[in-house]
Amino acid sequence: MIKTYSLDEIDEMSVNDVHDLYKSYVNQGQVNLLSSFSPARLLVDYSEGQYIYLKNGTIVSDFTAGIGVLNHGHNHPRVLKVRTEFQEKKRMEVHKNFLSPYLAALAHSVSSIMPEDLCMSYFCNSGAEAVEGAVKLAYKAFDGKRKRIAAADISFHGKLLGTAGLTGSKEVYFQWPTIPNIDRFVYNDFESIKNIIQEALVDGESDHYAILIEPMNASNVTECSERFLIQLRELCDKHKIALIFDEVYTGWAKTGAWFYFMHHSVVPDIVSMSKSFGAGKSSISGFVATKHMFNLAYGKDIDSILHSTTYNGFGEECATALESIKVIHEEKLVTRAQEIEDYLLPELESLRDKNPNWISDVRGRGALLGLVLDSDINPILDRLVDLVPVGVLADEGFRKKLVVSSLIHYLYEEHSILTYFGSNVDVPLIIAPTLKASSDDCIKLIRSLEDAFSRNKLSLIYEFARFKFGNEYLNDK
Ligand SMILES: Cc1ncc(COP(=O)(O)O)c(C=O)c1O
Repeated sequence: MIKTYSLDEIDEMSVNDVHDLYKSYVNQGQVNLLSSFSPARLLVDYSEGQYIYLKNGTIVSDFTAGIGVLNHGHNHPRVLKVRTEFQEKKRMEVHKNFLSPYLAALAHSVSSIMPEDLCMSYFCNSGAEAVEGAVKLAYKAFDGKRKRIAAADISFHGKLLGTAGLTGSKEVYFQWPTIPNIDRFVYNDFESIKNIIQEALVDGESDHYAILIEPMNASNVTECSERFLIQLRELCDKHKIALIFDEVYTGWAKTGAWFYFMHHSVVPDIVSMSKSFGAGKSSISGFVATKHMFNLAYGKDIDSILHSTTYNGFGEECATALESIKVIHEEKLVTRAQEIEDYLLPELESLRDKNPNWISDVRGRGALLGLVLDSDINPILDRLVDLVPVGVLADEGFRKKLVVSSLIHYLYEEHSILTYFGSNVDVPLIIAPTLKASSDDCIKLIRSLEDAFSRNKLSLIYEFARFKFGNEYLNDK
């Protein structure tokens, strides 16, 4: 029998109902993993601005911004209005026989934000698709004659077959088949990338079609230096290699510039973008290339649809992204991200100075800040062995995750503040509010961190380990 739930029926579901459906029809392991943290044991009623309103009445301050998607805040009223208007007027979404005025207008807007000749856009639906589209464009620009691509060791570019291979982070630890000839260089280390390019020269000609890098890596909260980026640009110019900046996370005002690279005097050949492009209401992504690079790849009519997807530039998604750009501009969200940094960064540095047993590093830009925590838990290992599965305590990565998770758990349970951690060489606590976070929200975060750091670190870790591994909850399920 076919069963479809109505929205009213979905509203009536308990968290157990949702878990059971996930376990039977989605992914059992995901339920087990996510239930290590309270949010996956609760249901959301609605969300607005910086806040998530839970069905149990709790109001959560969202310092994850939907992991990059919600620079505009949850459910921005102007974005909702545009979508409703689009639907009420029965605008046409997609029809390949007609050219789309929405897509054309959006490409024009993107070009108006980008410097120099970066003006040719393609729109798709996920960050990984955007990165793969950018890489394909670079490959085609050399007509397949160049065989190699270089990507950084601490990168995250997505989980499709191509982007999983290009990703350097351990988050993608399984060896999938991928695109051939990926060379790995050390992030922000010019000698490393220079040697890789040099070693692959064939008769003095480069064999690299592209260098792919996040100029600011979001999962490790690590930035390239201006000097490195300038040298990288010069290297690409010298060998005519396409320089691709992956700004899927760092775009759309997150770091106190429209795109992170705009903090520096370096312009890439292709930029990938996603996340807050759709203001948290549409799954739109894309890449923008220089006219020169685009024409080399797809300039001939016969090649013009070599790269395409069904949902390229869907009407309502483009209308949403257009409003998203207008909101960033008119509500001065770039400036807001800078203001958030101006307040939070010195406060976090002061917390580091006062709590060296907790914090070993503070870094980041705009509304993308990270705390690297001290993960030495040797003094309490004996208290954890009864709680934590055998073997995992020896794993350095696990220890880092345990410490940061304990802090995330405490902030959530005691202060209703939602944060997350980045999965990379470091496992930083990431503080990335929406750009609707007020001064009071930021002050509350700092007070809550002060409170957490004044607690006994070992007790916090023990409490979290009991919550996660105590099994009272999981055994009930
Ligand atoms: C820098 C960067 N590139 C690519 C991706 C992949 O995006 P998606 O998960 O939408 O495929 C991400 C996702 O977090 C990202 O941060």
